[in-house]
Amino acid sequence: MSALPEKTALITGANAGIGKEVARQLALRPEMARIYLACRNEDRATAAKAELEAVSDRRIFDIVLMDVADLDSVRAGLAGIDGSVDALVMNAGVIGPQSMELTAGGVTTVFATNVLGHVVLLERLLAEHRLGEVALFAGSEAMRGVPKLRMKGPSFVSTSADELATAIDGSYFAGMKPDFNLAFGQAKYIGALWMAYLARQYPDRRFVTVSPGNTTGTRAASDLPLPMRIAAKYVMPTLGLAHKLDVGAKRLVDGVTDPTLSSGTFYASAANTLIGPMVNQADFLPDLANPSFQDHANEAIHRFIR
Ligand SMILES: NC(=O)c1ccc[n+]([C@@H]2O[C@H](COP(=O)([O-])OP(=O)(O)OC[C@H]3O[C@@H](n4cnc5c(N)ncnc54)[C@H](OP(=O)(O)O)[C@@H]3O)[C@@H](O)[C@H]2O)c1
Repeated sequence: MSALPEKTALITGANAGIGKEVARQLALRPEMARIYLACRNEDRATAAKAELEAVSDRRIFDIVLMDVADLDSVRAGLAGIDGSVDALVMNAGVIGPQSMELTAGGVTTVFATNVLGHVVLLERLLAEHRLGEVALFAGSEAMRGVPKLRMKGPSFVSTSADELATAIDGSYFAGMKPDFNLAFGQAKYIGALWMAYLARQYPDRRFVTVSPGNTTGTRAASDLPLPMRIAAKYVMPTLGLAHKLDVGAKRLVDGVTDPTLSSGTFYASAANTLIGPMVNQADFLPDLANPSFQDHANEAIHRFIR
């Protein structure tokens, strides 16, 4: 009997929530030979590694220290990894920071964490011919707005690179009260467009955006204002509007292991839902399939990478 080909995966934000559960589920697959846990805090990463080894009974986890909001940290973390990565899971993300604080590079923390560090990570892997098969970006239904949580969806006027850049440096909210949830939805929207752009440039690999859906058992809602925190943590699960951690994480695992999920596509819950079967979001949000918008997202993002 021939041996299974050995696979490697790298998961950002792998010490908690969905990222850690993705690591656990991937470790159940016998072909998975190495899983890099890319985390920003060594103690939390070490604790997660020990827990994953105990629950999976496998010794295939390596810690990579990487703060995705800091581009130099991303570059240094990646330099410490030998060889290629078959599956990259760009999961690290924050929704909650209730500030429009900017990084040293002039980018909002929410954009830097959810998107910009991942751009540097994935594009460097591509440039060095080290992405084996698939890259997955953790999207969110927030990019189309979530009326049940009173979250507005991005509604850009022209979706030009200039306009998208205002969502990256926070100037979109100049002269008005910032809407932090909208800033999160804008980041996920621009990230999904960028992934679709890459899918067109690299037809031999898969680039998928997948939302885990409204998932309990994570810390994602912890920094939200109290009413939203209560709604997310208690009301929505009670009403059956959220699913459990293993279900949300499995969506991301399917994204990297199921080759029938198409490159350049953003999969998330059907319209007006936050859980259930995943559908192609471009079916009701044609922006996502617009090559000009994809190009503009790519151009806007690269204005902030030095
Ligand atoms: N939960 C949901 O309902 C839901 C819905 C839609 C989309 N999502 C998306 O799914 C992904 C995972 O969310 P989650 O619910 O699992 O959130 P979570 O429980 O808050 O976990 C987030 C993970 O990201 C890491 N992280 C945050 N900032 C980082 C940075 N600068 N550098 C490196 N790692 C960083 C965190 O590490 P630390 O421990 O160091 O903070 C943690 O490991 C996110 O992209 C989120 O937007 C979640």
